Amino acid sequence: MENPDLVNLFPKPILILIGIALLTATLFLQTGRAQSGAPQITATPTPDRLAQPTLPSAPSQADFGAQEFWSRCLPCHGDRGQGLTDEFRETYPPEDRNCWLSGCHGTRPYPDGWTIPAFVPPIIGAQALQRFQNAQALRDYICASMPYQWPGTLEDETCWELTAFLLRQNGLWDASVELNETNAAQIAILELPPTPTPVPIVIADRKSDLIALMATILMAIVLGSLFIFINRGKPKQ
Ligand code: HEC
Repeated sequence: MENPDLVNLFPKPILILIGIALLTATLFLQTGRAQSGAPQITATPTPDRLAQPTLPSAPSQADFGAQEFWSRCLPCHGDRGQGLTDEFRETYPPEDRNCWLSGCHGTRPYPDGWTIPAFVPPIIGAQALQRFQNAQALRDYICASMPYQWPGTLEDETCWELTAFLLRQNGLWDASVELNETNAAQIAILELPPTPTPVPIVIADRKSDLIALMATILMAIVLGSLFIFINRGKPKQ
């Protein structure tokens, strides 16, 4: 025999619960659709990392330094001052990527060539320039020892421009006033904090949406059954 209570109780709460489940389901499916349509990949032109930097209309000492860096230092220290890294060498044409090949800059260079050291340190970035106490010490080193293959050949003015550029790129100098022997010793070269690693944002995928949807429906069924079970014994109104 069927319980008449059950028959009476069935429609209303179950309908409400199914309604809730369906609403939630639509919500989940909508979110899923919005997410899958979201990442619009727009084509951005790859900048030429080896291109000469452009001079602004009112160039600062550091802007001139950028030009000098590009022509005299970049080939060894990298386009971002990162050093002669594998990643930077990839920007060169395939035949020039192995800087240490004999005949080029290897152990037996061509007549005007020179041997490139196995390691060229970074001069821009978190751990860069730590052996220099201040801007004056950095300038003196550049003037006396760089570029590596022709040390001591830089003009005095060029040394200051390069120093101003390196300080600016390392966030140690805003280049608003001229850098020279009157202020350089006061500009300390401090340890820069490492660049924080970006935390990846996890976007729920369609699979987890489906699991959530199924969990909601299951929950609705369980709650519905519980409701029926509780109301079972109650007398009919
Ligand atoms: C032929 C490759 C080469 C070129 C070109 C070159 N460097 Fe270097 N540079 C090196 C090497 C190798 C070292 C490491 C020398 C050492 O530690 O004795 C170095 C070291 C330095 C350092 C010291 C880094 C540190 O923390 O120890 C600075 C600053 C520097 N270079 C600036 C410059 C500037 C500015 C130019 C451009 C005028 C330049 N370099 C051009 C190869 C080069």
